[in-house]
Amino acid sequence: PAAVVLDATGVRDVDALAEVHAALHPVVRSVATSGRVVVLGAPLDAEDHHQAAAQQALEGFTRSLGKEIGGGRTVNLVRLTDAAAAGSTLCFLLSPASAYVSGQVIEVGPPDDSAAPPDAPELPLAGRTALVTGAARGIGAAVAETLAGQGARVVVLDVPQAEQEARRLAERLGGTALALDITAADAGERIAAAVPGGLDVLIHNAGVTRDRRLANMPAERWSSVLDVNLASVLRTTDALLGSGTVNRGGRIVATASIAGLAGNAGQTNYGASKAGIAGLVRSLAPRALAEHGVTVNAVAPGFIETRMTAAVPLFIREAGRRMNSLAQGGLPVDVARTTAWLAHPASGAVNGQVVRVCGQSLLGA
Ligand SMILES: NC(=O)c1ccc[n+]([C@@H]2O[C@H](COP(=O)([O-])OP(=O)(O)OC[C@H]3O[C@@H](n4cnc5c(N)ncnc54)[C@H](O)[C@@H]3O)[C@@H](O)[C@H]2O)c1
Repeated sequence: PAAVVLDATGVRDVDALAEVHAALHPVVRSVATSGRVVVLGAPLDAEDHHQAAAQQALEGFTRSLGKEIGGGRTVNLVRLTDAAAAGSTLCFLLSPASAYVSGQVIEVGPPDDSAAPPDAPELPLAGRTALVTGAARGIGAAVAETLAGQGARVVVLDVPQAEQEARRLAERLGGTALALDITAADAGERIAAAVPGGLDVLIHNAGVTRDRRLANMPAERWSSVLDVNLASVLRTTDALLGSGTVNRGGRIVATASIAGLAGNAGQTNYGASKAGIAGLVRSLAPRALAEHGVTVNAVAPGFIETRMTAAVPLFIREAGRRMNSLAQGGLPVDVARTTAWLAHPASGAVNGQVVRVCGQSLLGA
């Protein structure tokens, strides 16, 4: 099989876990190269510790199988409350778009229909406006390209020094460029002024590294990273939600990093900023959905081949590439397609998630 989907939502005790073994043991060896295994689970029951134990067991099972299955195959767990809301998530996890997503636990909440369904399934973002920060190159450029390919009108935002690259990309994608340093105090207002019809998709991708061990890190290196990667994300999100610039049914996707989840020597500033993104997402998501009909999620890339990682010393770079279940680096398009799934109008039930795009990196597994 190219894919195996195991419905384990009814697993309520340890005995029932034997059925998980019985179902997958005979087929696991025959899953096609680059095939997909998706396990469906249920939310942990706070009133029933046997159910909670058995359902949490699925997490360790999924992550362990992801590490041993090999051959470009991925294994993920989807915890759902209502199968009807999981369509876009299953489409993503069963497709080539999720090639670098493995060992993840994704929670799908109750259905949310704040976003109007797309007119054409192959162009889900047609008629919608998406703004991507730091989009002149690297992951951001791939995100802008992927969203434009799905029909979105894109706004390519980057610093004034990168205006030419941003303009060239925007022209190619039929969008517009916005030369703006995202740390500017009035960035939110300037973005709002650039999108008169409001924003349907807001991607906080701009990010910087200024690596040094803490003992050698001057305050300026600390604050510049915290400002670009976290404070400006908080400021612009607050401004754009507060001014009603993010339309109902909107999608906000911020960029974390596995360095923020696992920690990384020489990156106390970067790790702090990216862990902060996870905190922002988890706290804001339920309120943003209830008050504005907007979902808030994050992608947490692992080792992705860009100019940022090309600057990493050779030995560490090669280790970063290899030390994951897929034994290779990811590409910007892997992050872009994960972002597109979170930005999809049918993904309203996916909220407050931090999804790693890291090939199941050994870092902070
Ligand atoms: N490449 C990786 O392996 C990796 C891993 C984890 C997380 N990330 C995150 O993914 C995002 C994109 O990374 P990338 O590898 O494409 O980096 P990159 O350096 O290639 O691109 C970052 C872009 O952000 C822009 N930018 C920086 N500061 C800005 C500011 N103040 N205002 C507006 N734009 C600004 C830059 O000009 C650049 O175009 C970042 O948030 C990064 O932390 C990357």
